Amino acid sequence: MEQRTAYWRVDPIKPDPRIMARAGLILRQGGLVAFPTETVYGLGANALDGLAVARIFEVKGRPQDNPLIVHVADRETACRLVRRVPAGAGKLMDAFWPGPLTLVLPAAPVVPRQVTAGLDSVGIRMPDHQVALALIAAAGVPVAAPSANLSGRPSPTTAGHVLQDLNGRIEVVLDAGPAGVGLESTVLDLTGDVPVILRPGGITREELEKVIGEVRVDPGVDGRSGGEFRPRSPGMKYRHYAPRVPLVLVEGEPERVAARLKELAGIYRSRGLRVGVLATAETAGEYNGSRVVVAGPRQDPAAIASRLFAALRQLDELGVDVILAEGIEPRGLGLAVMNRLRRAAGNRIERM
Ligand code: TXA
Ligand code: MG
Repeated sequence: MEQRTAYWRVDPIKPDPRIMARAGLILRQGGLVAFPTETVYGLGANALDGLAVARIFEVKGRPQDNPLIVHVADRETACRLVRRVPAGAGKLMDAFWPGPLTLVLPAAPVVPRQVTAGLDSVGIRMPDHQVALALIAAAGVPVAAPSANLSGRPSPTTAGHVLQDLNGRIEVVLDAGPAGVGLESTVLDLTGDVPVILRPGGITREELEKVIGEVRVDPGVDGRSGGEFRPRSPGMKYRHYAPRVPLVLVEGEPERVAARLKELAGIYRSRGLRVGVLATAETAGEYNGSRVVVAGPRQDPAAIASRLFAALRQLDELGVDVILAEGIEPRGLGLAVMNRLRRAAGNRIERM
């Protein structure tokens, strides 16, 4: 492995074809390239090269049983990676590709087991970002890519976040500025009778249902069922998206949430702890004495989504001992925001 990670700045709309050709060649030859997508930064490897894919797991410290999403630049490639295209898949591709929707489909034998983690399905998406699409085209192969963070940390929405976690461990990072959506793609399982959301993300359940009718949300999302339940998406087992310090999430009616957060902040401060608050714009002024990071306005979950991971990293850097976070309404994009916050909180969740 190289000692240094090359840092190449590229135009987000019209990336320099010579830079993309070099990055594509590195991928084709088995190297790792971090690149921007519309959701978060990804850590790419040639999806048809099991050894290259294995290195992704190594540098991220990723659990071996957590499969990767394969990124494609055209539908034909997607079709070559699957055994069959289930009903509804074509309509969803028409409606949402390129875009933040990953379809879990029956995997063809060409997909290495390092990608699927031994499952007989494969997650595929076409990212809505000119740099990602140009990179995949230049590589001439489908690109397996998880988020480009150390396993367990908040996903990176800038090239700077990627370097914080992976500098020296990967060949190249392409910097095209901050990712737009800020949260990962929606993962939708199409291998059963009814489509099931395995991970809420950039495309909402409401948007999906307009195109294909009934969509279920897997009970493993946010551990709704608990007990014996085994999630269908292995990634949902792990504590995730987490800042280094403990995060306490308070959910419920906004005024009561703010009141409880103030009370908690007082309790922690009286014990000599430094308190950070992840607040919505409406109530950010209430937390005197705490370090406050504003996620965005409550009425605009898309704005909160785009800032969430950067805000979590920022709170870490403030050197606080505990983070108190306001919950928002889990509807539309708010469901994906709350999924990430709940997973960052682990079991430290209060409902008002
Ligand atoms: O927006 C995104 O999806 C980003 C960008 C880089 O494209 N990628 C991303 O990858 O978030 P990652 O590896 O951080 O998350 C992939 C999720 C995991 O929860 C994994 O378990 C699930 O997708 N997944 C992948 N393949 C699957 C499969 N065949 N069956 C069930 N779940 C799958
Ligand atoms: Mg991830």
